Amino acid sequence: MALVPRVFLPAEQIQNRVREMGRQISLDYPQGPIYLVAILKGAFMFLADLSRNITTPSRIEFMGISSYGRGKTSSGEVKVTKDLDVSIEGQHVLVVEDIVDSGVTLTYLINVLEQRKPKSLRIATLLDKPERRQRDVEVAYVGFQIPDEFVVGYGLDFDEDHRHLRDICVLVEEGLGLGTRG
Ligand code: PRP
Repeated sequence: MALVPRVFLPAEQIQNRVREMGRQISLDYPQGPIYLVAILKGAFMFLADLSRNITTPSRIEFMGISSYGRGKTSSGEVKVTKDLDVSIEGQHVLVVEDIVDSGVTLTYLINVLEQRKPKSLRIATLLDKPERRQRDVEVAYVGFQIPDEFVVGYGLDFDEDHRHLRDICVLVEEGLGLGTRG
C-alpha cells in the first residue's frame, strides 16, 4: 500500500518558530558576518527561511555530507561530498541542519570545521530527535524536539521524495492521510 504524507508540524507553526530562532540568533550575534553553513540537501528550505529572519549580516555556504550503509539509521561512516568554497578562519560559523538524529553527522562535521579555526562555531537545527542520540553533540538552537517518527517535508525526504512540502509530515498508509498543501 502506498505511503502518503500526513501533517505533523504545519507550515504556520514552522514559520513562527523559524522567525523566533532568527530573532534570537540576531540578538546573539550583534556583529556579522555570520557564515551560515547549510548541510545539503535537507537544510535548504530551513536555510532559506532562517536567513531571511536574521538581521545580522550573513553569508550563505553549503556543504555536502554523506553517510554510508545507513538506510534510515546512521552507520557512523561519514564523508564530505561537497566542501566549502571559502575559508572560515576567524569567522563566526553557524551550521544549519534540518535534523539531528544520532548526532553522527554533526560530530564528524564539527570536528572538520573546528580544525579550520573559526572564531565561533555553533549549530542550529530545525528538528531534534533526542531519543535517537548516539553521540553527544551540543546544539545551540533547536526549532522543535520531536519523538522518534520518520518525518518528511520542508526539505526532508524519503528516497528523495517530499522535500518540497511546506509542512513537516509523517508517512502513513493511503486512506489515513489528511492531505497536505505542498
Ligand atoms: C540527514 C540530516 C543530517 C543527518 C542527521 O541527512 O540532514 O545531515 O541526516 O542524522 P544523524 O544525526 O543520524 O547523523 P541525510 O543523510 O538524510 O541527507 P539529506 O539531507 O541529503 O536528505
